[in-house]
This record gives sequence, structure tokens and C-alpha cells, in this order.
Amino acid sequence: MNALSSQDLIAVIGAGAMGSGIVQVALNAGHRVALYDAAPAALARGVASIDATYRRLLDKGKIDAATHADRMARLLPAESLDDLARAALVIEAIVEDLDIKARVLSEVEALLGEHAIIATNTSSLSVTAIAARLKRPAQVAGLHFFNPAPLLPLVEIVSGKATAPEVADTLFATALAWHKVPVRCASTPGFIVNRVARPFYGEALRLLADCAASAATIDAILRDVGGFRMGAFELMDLIGHDVNYAVTKSVYDALYQDPRYKPSLLQKDLVDAGWLGRKSGTGFYAYGDNAVRPASFVAQDAPRPAQVIVEGDLGVAAPLIQLAHDAGLAVTVSQAAAGRALLWIDGVAIALTDGRSALQRLADGDPAGIVFDLAFDYRNGGAIALAAADLAQDGAMQTATGFFQALGKRVLIVDDVPGMVVMRTVAMLANEAADVVQQGVASAADTDLAMVNGVNYPRGPLAWADLIGAAAVGRVLANLAAAYGDDRYRSAPLLLRRALNGRRFHTGASA
Ligand code: NAI
Repeated sequence: MNALSSQDLIAVIGAGAMGSGIVQVALNAGHRVALYDAAPAALARGVASIDATYRRLLDKGKIDAATHADRMARLLPAESLDDLARAALVIEAIVEDLDIKARVLSEVEALLGEHAIIATNTSSLSVTAIAARLKRPAQVAGLHFFNPAPLLPLVEIVSGKATAPEVADTLFATALAWHKVPVRCASTPGFIVNRVARPFYGEALRLLADCAASAATIDAILRDVGGFRMGAFELMDLIGHDVNYAVTKSVYDALYQDPRYKPSLLQKDLVDAGWLGRKSGTGFYAYGDNAVRPASFVAQDAPRPAQVIVEGDLGVAAPLIQLAHDAGLAVTVSQAAAGRALLWIDGVAIALTDGRSALQRLADGDPAGIVFDLAFDYRNGGAIALAAADLAQDGAMQTATGFFQALGKRVLIVDDVPGMVVMRTVAMLANEAADVVQQGVASAADTDLAMVNGVNYPRGPLAWADLIGAAAVGRVLANLAAAYGDDRYRSAPLLLRRALNGRRFHTGASA
């Protein structure tokens, strides 16, 4: 599997945000790079922005003057597509329109040598459909960078129906040589990242629509309990609601309105209002000099409990037991009633959410009137989220709060909704990732690698499912499906299979 040589000419079409970034990646790897844009002013802007980026690196001492001069000397602004004829690889990063992309790429294909590779940076169009419009579809693939391309490591190498395996191999090896993290996937809507990430936004939007908590509280839980770099609402504000809503809609439509990807009216409303997020000054939050970020719903200080009884196997939440010991609480272990996993705090039963609301648990005869959310790291994490059933015993929330505060955790409170915040989000991410694997879109390893490197997830969704246990994730989904009566929460067949056969996603063993 050979990478392109640094002697090979790379051509980039489109000098916008992505094209300019991709040019830098190839220049940094030692190539000569021809850059073309239909608008001469856009080409000039692109070249100026690349130069400005290198000047900033120069000012910071990250590169020296000779490197700056050498890179700029290898950047070859092209006046016409004819100047790209000798390229070994053409990367297209123009407007997201199938007809326009196909027209420009056909024109350039006619000029290129027969072994040249044509790559598209499309995020939402079918690579198969673009390739089918060209004469040599076997030479065409997706090379999907993330914005900003020089900084974000992930590159999805997308094979269309006709893409030759050697072409994908060459792109994979070349991306590695360019110090990127390449993953392979098939041309399906959203590829890996833009598909698997949908529930991160979708579940948060549904929780907000159901008034389960404020945007600030949900974001704080995703960040401080779930370990995500940003909360869903602050991230959507950063991406821009026009862009994020369009991606959701395109994946939803491309998958024939599967309810799993259903867009949210809350977000449509923001788009309709022109509240696009940071770039317009308002989104879920207000931006600007005087903007004040609303506070999240944090519980008041509560008394330290006296006694903790552990009943059953707490699974992923088991580190809480050691923490309770470390905090000097009196911890005892009791005989467990069948299937139970509870902590009794001064007589109040609490449990890790299993996708049921606490009220549903009480109705089912389970004593836990207080539930806590999944945490990225129970041991070292600084926060926990709690919910109380309407019919929980008096003072139960205060007792549970006092327990987690004694363990050094800030307690965030949400309404008693099925699956809380992190658990339902992670279960849905893992479910989507399982379908990506089952459907042959990408391997389990590449799917997790993509989510960690493309969107900075603290842990790959399938590694998370391995940690929680596929059976537990399956129970969460089944309980969500029962609570909402919605096909959105149906379990992926591969997740069910892992739940039954007890195998992990990441052993490398086959299903
Ligand atoms: P952009 O609007 O910043 O730049 C597009 C450039 O293409 C403009 O300079 C425009 O003058 C030029 N162009 C338009 N039609 C052309 C034509 N017929 N021939 C030559 N040049 C033409 O767009 P951006 O954001 O750089 O996106 C480019 C592509 O990359 C799209 O396919 C987009 O879906 C994809 N993408 C975008 C990401 C993002 O976060 N912005 C992330 C990953 C992929």
C-alpha cells in the first residue's frame, strides 16, 4: 500500500475554508500544490489566508522563515483547470452541489493522466453518484476532511460502489503520510461521523423540547458528567444552526425519514429566526461582550449521610463503592434480591438509570425513587446528575445529594425523564455505531477512531458499550422504546447480538 510521493503534484479545486485547509496539509507534507477556484477573488483570498496562517506560525516560532518561503513557493495558484493536468491527486472542495461537482470533475478528468485519483471532500453527497458521472469511476473516492483541516486529524476515506480498492489504499497511505488519522468507510449518508453523531444533538434537543432541564444544565451534564468536550447546545451554536440542521435533514432524508434522525422543531425555529449561534450573536445562548451564560441547576448543600448499603452489582458505577469508602462513609454489602443493583443511602434507594424513569421503577416495584446518570469517570469526575420520581419518599433527593457531595461531586438535577441525559445519549451513539458496523459501512475500530478524532468524543461509542455491557445498553434502549413508543429507540441487531452472546465490540472476534 503505497502513499503518493512528495514529488507528486496535488491539485485542490475550491479555495474556501476547506480547500485552503487541505492545501496546507499537502504543502506541509512536502508536495507542490496547485489551487484552482472559479472565482479569482476567492483564489486570491484563499492564497492570502494560507499565507496568513503560516505567518502566524512564524510569529509564534512554530516554523522558520525558510519553511514559510518554501511552502509558499510550492503553492501554485492556477488560472485554469488546465494547470491541474499533471496532478496525481485532485481534491475537490467546491460548493456542495452534485451537478456542479460532477461537471467540474468531468472537465478535469479529461485533462488528467489515467492513473490520477479524483477525490471529493463532500460531506453529504453520494460518492457513488459523483463517480458515476465520470468516465473512470474506479479512480474516484471521498477524502473527507474536518474543519479546520490542518488541525483536525481525522480523514474519512470513502469508497463509492465502483472505487478501486487500490485507490482507497493509496489515499489511506497518503493520509497517514500526511500525519492524519484515516478511517475507511463506504459511501452511505453521513459516512461515519456525521451519522453516528446525530443522536448527540438529537437526544439533547428532545430533552430540551420535553423541558427536562435547561440547555445550560443539559450541557453541563454532557460536559462535566459525560466527559464530552462541549455540551450539545454550545456545540450546535458553534457549528451554526443552519449547517447543523441541514446536515441532520440531509441524513434524515437520505435514510428515507428514519425516525432515528428526525430533525427538531426547536432547531428549525432557531434557523427560521436567524438565530444561527455564535456567528449571528444568538443561538441557544447569547454571545457578545455583555452576554451572561445562564447557570445550570445545581443542588444545594445537603447533609452527609451516615450509612451506605450496596445491594447487587453496580456494574459500570461500581467505583462509587470505593469512593464511599475513601470518603469515610460506613459501607456494607447486603444480599441482593434477584436482578437488583442499588445503593441504600440512609434507607433511601438509588440506582444507575436503566432507561426507565424513577417513577416507572417505583411503579414496577423497584425501590429506587432516585436515579443517577451514566458518568464518563465515576471515580475522578467532578459531577453527577440525579433525578427523583414524583412519588419518591420525602427528603430522598436531599439524602442522595448529600451522598454524592460527600464523594466530592457537584450534583446537577434533571426532571425524571427516561434514560436521563448521558445514558440515553451514549446508548443511542452506541446503537448508531453498531448499525454502522453491522451494515459494513466501517469497522468497529474505525468507527470509534472516527468519533474520537473527528468530534473529540472522550471514548468511542462502542468502547463505551463494551464498558457498560451491550446487555445493559440494550435494556436502556428497550426501556426508552417502551417509554416513548417510538421506533427511534429500536435496538441495532448487532447490539442485540452482542447482548446475547456476551462478546465485546473491540475484541476483533467476529460476531
Ligand atoms: P466554501 O464556500 O468556503 O468554499 C467553496 C469554494 O469553492 C469557494 O471559494 C467557491 O468560489 C469555489 N467554487 C464554487 N463553485 C466552483 C466551481 N464550479 N469551480 C471552482 N470553484 C468553485 O465551502 P467549504 O466550507 O470550503 O466547503 C467545500 C466543500 O467541503 C463542500 O463540499 C462541503 O460540503 C465540504 N465540507 C465542508 C466542511 C465545513 O465544515 N465547512 C467540512 C467538511 C467538508
